[in-house]
Amino acid sequence: MTLDTPDLELRSVLPSIIGSGFDDPYPMYDYLRANCPVHRDASGVWLLSSHALITRMLDNRNFSARPPTMDLAADDPLGYANMIVFQHADQHDRLRHLLAPLFSRKSLATLQDFIDAEIARLLEPLQDAARFDLVAEVASVLPLRTICHLLGFPVSNAANYLQASMGAWQLISGAPLSAGQRAHAVAQTQTFLDHIDSLIRTIDPARSPEHPVAWFLRLEKEGEFTRHEMLVNILFLFIAGYGTTLLSIGNSVAAALRQPRAWRALRDDPGLIPQAVRELYRYDPAVQAIFRYAWQDTEFDGHLIRRGELVALLLGAANRDPDEFDSPDEIDFARTQGRSLTFGAGPHSCMGVALARMQLESLLRALLHRLPDLQLGAAEPRRLQRGTFHGFDQLWLERPS
Ligand code: HEM
Repeated sequence: MTLDTPDLELRSVLPSIIGSGFDDPYPMYDYLRANCPVHRDASGVWLLSSHALITRMLDNRNFSARPPTMDLAADDPLGYANMIVFQHADQHDRLRHLLAPLFSRKSLATLQDFIDAEIARLLEPLQDAARFDLVAEVASVLPLRTICHLLGFPVSNAANYLQASMGAWQLISGAPLSAGQRAHAVAQTQTFLDHIDSLIRTIDPARSPEHPVAWFLRLEKEGEFTRHEMLVNILFLFIAGYGTTLLSIGNSVAAALRQPRAWRALRDDPGLIPQAVRELYRYDPAVQAIFRYAWQDTEFDGHLIRRGELVALLLGAANRDPDEFDSPDEIDFARTQGRSLTFGAGPHSCMGVALARMQLESLLRALLHRLPDLQLGAAEPRRLQRGTFHGFDQLWLERPS
């Protein structure tokens, strides 16, 4: 792709952003933001790339993650439309309220010891390793086991759940799928939903009132939640909970190590870690775009977006918008201004932000403490771009011999 002379009238840039993608989408975002911050892509999808416009759309109730009309049997055989993220207006507010206790300060506080123990267990064998792949050894294990713990799934079975949830991941990623791939992903996801259902049936809320699922079962009994709503939302929490955090770990550690000055600053002053984590996930977010459909014809920044049309909100572009952040392409742990859109904004902003931050902060603290001389490996890290998800497939780190 030539970025110097983008002939945007003629060709779609969407596949570069949500297809197999490219390593560095930021030059394309800069071009879009500077020249056409509301752009109708040749594919027909609208692309928003400015921070102010994305924030404005996320607060506009004329837009929803779910299309205004759907043939549920054909387009949504699994009932994904019942997931919180695809719900709209009052139904969304209701689900958000029902799920909130899972993310209360009290509920998350009980996870800190689990997270610290997991990190210690994962880093122990790496203390003496000359090189290791952070993705395989840590990032693909910690968030997965943490989300199992949060939901009350047997942590010992985490690796099987990872495999079983692959179809659900594909379906939610926005990546283009062939009919055969879609059918396979749907069948795999249905099997996983059936498994979650059988797991739930083993929980007795009277005997285990503190079990996370006991809360859902009480809601079901009181008529607040149907069984299907419960199942697809547990599935959503599961995939939202581990995949994004997995990718964020790689993106954050790679960004910090690419700038040895930044890594040294953290090593010298671990008190910087909370703000460093915020800055690192701004710099290279795991979710590069989210989507909204217009539910009615809407005048938006001088453009008419018609009912049913799809808009891609480029969060990665918003996070590098110079109108929001000074010197946005630099990592600056002292940055105080600007609001990162890594976790979305508005009514659908991420419910798991505190949980993700806990894992990122604890891991960074442990890495700096146990492996302070860590550096990026000589091999070029392998980028992963699956739909709107952006991270590393492999990230080799080394210790000087
Ligand atoms: C670094 C990791 C994470 C990132 C980058 C991330 C990103 C996002 C984004 C961008 C959204 C907005 C989606 C939209 O508006 O269409 C979102 C929503 C959501 N996230 Fe996260 N997330 C992360 C971790 C988590 C975790 C650990 C959980 C916990 C299970 C979680 C649960 C949710 C939920 C429930 C929503 C839907 C909220 C709603 O629709 O009201 N996320 N996340």
